[in-house]
Amino acid sequence: MSESISSIAERVLFSESLDDKLILGPSDAEDLELSDPVNLPDLPSRDQSIEITTNRNRANFPGIDCIDNEKDRGKLLHFLANHELLAAELMALALLRFPKAPSEYRKGLYEAMREEQIHTRLYLKRMKDCGVSLGEFPLNDFFWRITSRVDNELDFITRMNLTFEQANLDYSKYYAEQFRLAGDKATAVVLEKIYQDEIGHVGHGLKWLRHWKKPQQTDWQAYNESIHFPLSATRAKGVVDFNEEARLRVGFDPDFISRLKIFQRSRGRTPVIHWFNPNAELHARAQLNGNDIKMNRFESAIEKDLEILMAAFSKRDDIVLFRELPSVSHLEKLQSSGFDLPDAIGENELGTGKLGGFRPWAWSPEVSQLFKPFAQQVSKKIKDQWRPPVPSLWLSKEIGYLLEKRIGSLEDNRSLCRNVEHALSMISNDSVVYKPGYGCAGKGFRIANEKTPELEKWLSATIKENGFVIAEPWVQRVEDFSVHYHIENGKVDFLGATKVVNDHRGRFRGIDVAPRWSKLIDQELAAFLYKEELFGEWYHKIIPEELGSLLDQYNGPVSIDAMVWRDSYGRLCLRKIVELNVRMTMGRVALDLQKKMAANKFCSLRIEKKNSFKGEEGLVLNDPEKAIEFLAVWKVNENEMIRN
Ligand SMILES: [Fe+2]
Ligand SMILES: [Fe+2]
Repeated sequence: MSESISSIAERVLFSESLDDKLILGPSDAEDLELSDPVNLPDLPSRDQSIEITTNRNRANFPGIDCIDNEKDRGKLLHFLANHELLAAELMALALLRFPKAPSEYRKGLYEAMREEQIHTRLYLKRMKDCGVSLGEFPLNDFFWRITSRVDNELDFITRMNLTFEQANLDYSKYYAEQFRLAGDKATAVVLEKIYQDEIGHVGHGLKWLRHWKKPQQTDWQAYNESIHFPLSATRAKGVVDFNEEARLRVGFDPDFISRLKIFQRSRGRTPVIHWFNPNAELHARAQLNGNDIKMNRFESAIEKDLEILMAAFSKRDDIVLFRELPSVSHLEKLQSSGFDLPDAIGENELGTGKLGGFRPWAWSPEVSQLFKPFAQQVSKKIKDQWRPPVPSLWLSKEIGYLLEKRIGSLEDNRSLCRNVEHALSMISNDSVVYKPGYGCAGKGFRIANEKTPELEKWLSATIKENGFVIAEPWVQRVEDFSVHYHIENGKVDFLGATKVVNDHRGRFRGIDVAPRWSKLIDQELAAFLYKEELFGEWYHKIIPEELGSLLDQYNGPVSIDAMVWRDSYGRLCLRKIVELNVRMTMGRVALDLQKKMAANKFCSLRIEKKNSFKGEEGLVLNDPEKAIEFLAVWKVNENEMIRN
């Protein structure tokens, strides 16, 4: 009686002799026995001469560059033959681990195992011609280590067919060409055969992914949901040319192919999760009042339009969560412009894999809630742990006020007012600006120079909603700038300063950055800041020291807004702290973008209104097709510029 599929699989996996492992079963072997799954062995059985080493340093890939002589080619083939043998053994393992899988699936798996046996034989033959035999060099266990501990069939096809074998579409094609170029036709022919078979193996994986995935999922979503650390989609492509044609032949849809092409997570680092929540202050205020958050049209547009800015803060291995994903063609455009992209996924697509921490725009209440279910996926050693929301005070204007007090730069003509009488008493001969306790980017201010019933009404409503207003003289601004820090375990790092650019009506337009920020300001200003005001002393020493103790237990970005203004005698004055932002800011985004894309260059980030943007030069960072109101435009200026 001829062998059944299961007994052939047992022989491939558990027989120690290479010859036995490579005996092919009949192509129409019967799949009769529905036995119990076998236990997972530590390693496939192999006799001593072909034993797998678990010493990870010993069996590295020799590299395709050294195939000029027979011996070196033999060494490379030795490495590849081990992979083919492991592939056969892993497929045998899957046949034995999943005896109850659909018989059509098992048949496909069995055929692939037979082909892996054939591939091994073909390589062994070529190796022999080169004077090398299996076991002569160390045989690595990486492939086995990553693929053997699978929970179910979907897990197996994800790792084996859709990841390792898919990457081999790139490698086998590329190596075939390299061997042909090196004049080794015989090996090229073997690799071409493997390449053709691999298309079938990946196709088998795709067919069953479609069978097992949830009906509403795209192939790409299903694949990414199924793949787990330390693997990611990065492993599904080679570090050689991306072979689009092979993937089309497999039957992948164009969306899957383009997404994979631009996918850049590293091979093994756990991703940090980034999330854009620019309305953090509004959330903090709503929670304080026990209300639901109310966003106006612009606030909700900013949230939707500018989420790509979190990519500035991220590394390529990270994940930026999107409310609305940019189109693949837009991501491709950014990538080809040199923007090192993290992985972009929808806000509900975060899986159950390990995470490298969380970096939201701000730790406001709704963000803590959003990430809480994923908190356990972060290893305890990592610094960006989930945390409860920061105190609402930190997201209000009071925190900047407290810092000013601490450094002793608070003047009498400025005050935090918790009632209307106090606020009205701040009115003097000069104009006063009232700033609501929560809110950002200069929104919702009120300028007044006399008491009116209308002002009183406004103050009463604003104080009721915010708890307080800040009252201060309305001055003639000369320059707005921000200073950026990052706090980690109590250590405050100075990162740099950026210039805030407003339009002629004082509205925020964007940020300028330079190799040194002093290059962005004119000489009078530079002399004033550095000689009279001892910029370095304040922003490198005094303020960071106070920040560390003021923001106890905080890890993350912090920025200070400051300004230079002119008094009625025409003298320059420095307001050292206009606001303290315990979160990301546009200035920090610009600084990080500069570091990422144009180190030591003059750059600008502008937030433009979509309907008036004329498509001037510059890279539009968010997807213009999907933008509602705003475009974030990044420009690198090769020549120095000073603008006022
Ligand atoms: Fe193979
Ligand atoms: Fe294969």
